[in-house]
Amino acid sequence: MLRVIEETVEYIKRKTENFQPEIGIILGTGLGGLVKEIEIEHQLMYSNIPNFPISTLEFHSGKLIFGTLNGKKIIAMQGRLHYYEGYSMQQITFPVRVMKGLGIENLIVSNAAGSLNPEFKKGDLMIIEDHINLQPENPLRGLIESSLGPRFPDMSEPYKRDIIAKALKIAEAVEVKCHKGVYVAVSGPNLETKAEYKYLRLIGGDAVGMSTVPEVIVANHAGLPVFAISVLTDEGFPEDLQPFNLDEILEAAAKAEPKMTEILIRLVAEL
Ligand code: HPA
Repeated sequence: MLRVIEETVEYIKRKTENFQPEIGIILGTGLGGLVKEIEIEHQLMYSNIPNFPISTLEFHSGKLIFGTLNGKKIIAMQGRLHYYEGYSMQQITFPVRVMKGLGIENLIVSNAAGSLNPEFKKGDLMIIEDHINLQPENPLRGLIESSLGPRFPDMSEPYKRDIIAKALKIAEAVEVKCHKGVYVAVSGPNLETKAEYKYLRLIGGDAVGMSTVPEVIVANHAGLPVFAISVLTDEGFPEDLQPFNLDEILEAAAKAEPKMTEILIRLVAEL
């Protein structure tokens, strides 16, 4: 694993003239618009990067972007990898190891998620304060290289409280409503049944989605502070569950995205 990470890191350094990123950003489904705000210096397609898995969803374009955002050197992953696409958990989280190898000091993650909390409406933002992992595999299973992180990583603060506090202050300053809550990760790709939405709410979830947690586990294992934010694109309220419609989800993500982008642009300056 170490050798493979190093090979990829070396390739990227060569191709980006030793670009030194400070922050990594993983952009979720329908949330690639932040890229427009980056002064781009280099771009690499996943398909051209040695050992990188290739994103299969047509609305995930699969690019690593290197540039400056509000004065900070960042790498952005446009197009994340999902377990339901068939990748292993180690493949999904490989880019996090590579970004860590390139020197990032913080990781920002965004996603589209379904609301479970009746007070959190479609189009709202939710900062992830904690998570429940219901995905069937763990990215750290079988890992033996102790230089990558501890055998039993602590998860008492997977999402850094001081970064959350900064983001909430920013949200208030720019007058964007922003909840805090618990994200439940499921494998997908099917959406939840009414009984499942009810169960996920009962066990303490505020939002549900099919991503994020593997990357967050690996970031914590690697000692990277994480900030994560969900755009709530649909409402998983069992009493009034509407049939799932991907176009509506993407539309809701596109509509709410500028609010998230505004918070993230200001947040990177404070990291
Ligand atoms: N469930 C799971 N994943 C999701 C949802 C949902 O309701 N909305 C967006 N991603």
